[in-house]
Amino acid sequence: MGRLAGHHVLVTGGSRGIGAATVQKALGEGAKVTSLDIIAGPDLGANGLSLAADVTNAADISRTVEQAVAQFGPISGLVNNAGKNSYADPVKMTEAEWEDVFSVDLKAAWLVARAVLPAMIAASRGSIVNIASVHADMTYPGMFPYAAAKSGLVGLTRSLALEVGPHQIRVNALSPGYTETFLVQEFFEKNDPTLRSQVLKAHAMGRMAQPSEIANCIAFLLSDEASFVTGANWRVDGGLTARFAG
Ligand SMILES: NC(=O)c1ccc[n+]([C@@H]2O[C@H](COP(=O)([O-])OP(=O)(O)OC[C@H]3O[C@@H](n4cnc5c(N)ncnc54)[C@H](O)[C@@H]3O)[C@@H](O)[C@H]2O)c1
Repeated sequence: MGRLAGHHVLVTGGSRGIGAATVQKALGEGAKVTSLDIIAGPDLGANGLSLAADVTNAADISRTVEQAVAQFGPISGLVNNAGKNSYADPVKMTEAEWEDVFSVDLKAAWLVARAVLPAMIAASRGSIVNIASVHADMTYPGMFPYAAAKSGLVGLTRSLALEVGPHQIRVNALSPGYTETFLVQEFFEKNDPTLRSQVLKAHAMGRMAQPSEIANCIAFLLSDEASFVTGANWRVDGGLTARFAG
C-alpha cells in the first residue's frame, strides 16, 4: 500500500517536467491520477487518465473534472502545477500579455480549486498543492512579472487555507528552485552561456534538482502524513535561497 492509496490526484501540466514526475510518483504511491495539459502526455495505464485541457479555461476544467470523477471518483488531491515563465519588458508589455501570464501562473490555480472544492468539502478531506517558485521570495532581472504572479500564488495559498481549513482541507505552496526541465533550459538559452555554472555554484548542493526530487515533496504534502501542514510555502531549492552574493 502506497502513501496515496485511496486518493484520486489531479495534476495540472502533467505531461512533462515537474508535473509528469508528480504523476509518476502519485501512481507509484497507489493513487488514481488525472493529468490536465495543453500538450499530449504519455499513456498513464489503468490508474491514470491524461486529458487535454487549458487550465485557464473554466469550461475545459469543468468538462475534464467531470470526466475524471466519472472514471476514478471524487478528487482528494490537487496539484496546481501548470505554469510558464515570463520575460517581458515592463514598459513594452501589453495588457494582453500581462493577463496571459497571470491567467496561467495565478488565476488557473483558483479556477481548478473552485472546480474540485465542493466534493472535497462534502467529503471533509482534501489537499491542494500550488507549485509557486523561489521567485515568490527573490527574483532575477528580465523575468517580469513572473515573481508577481508566483508571489500572488503564495498569497492565494494562505488565503484559501484559511477559507477551507475548517473542512479539514489543507492548502500549501511548494516553491521549487532550479529544476532540470524545459523551463530551465529555456531560461539558460535566453541568458549568457556562463550563467549555468554560476547558478550551480550558488547552490549549497552544487547542482539543480531533478523533477522527481520536487515530486517526492509534493507527494508528502498530498499525503495524510502531512495532516497538520497547511497555509505553508515549502521551499525546495537545494539551499539556493539560503545564500546571498559573495
Ligand atoms: N523548472 C524550474 O526550475 C521551476 C522552478 C520554480 C517553479 N517552477 C514551476 O513549476 C511548474 C512546472 O514547471 P516545469 O519546469 O515542469 O515546466 P514545463 O514547461 O516542463 O511543464 C509545464 C507544463 O504545464 C503545461 N501547461 C502550461 N500552460 C498550460 C495551460 N494553460 N493549461 C494546461 N497545461 C499547461 C505545459 O504544457 C507543460 O506540460 C510551473 O508552475 C513552474 O513555474 C519551475
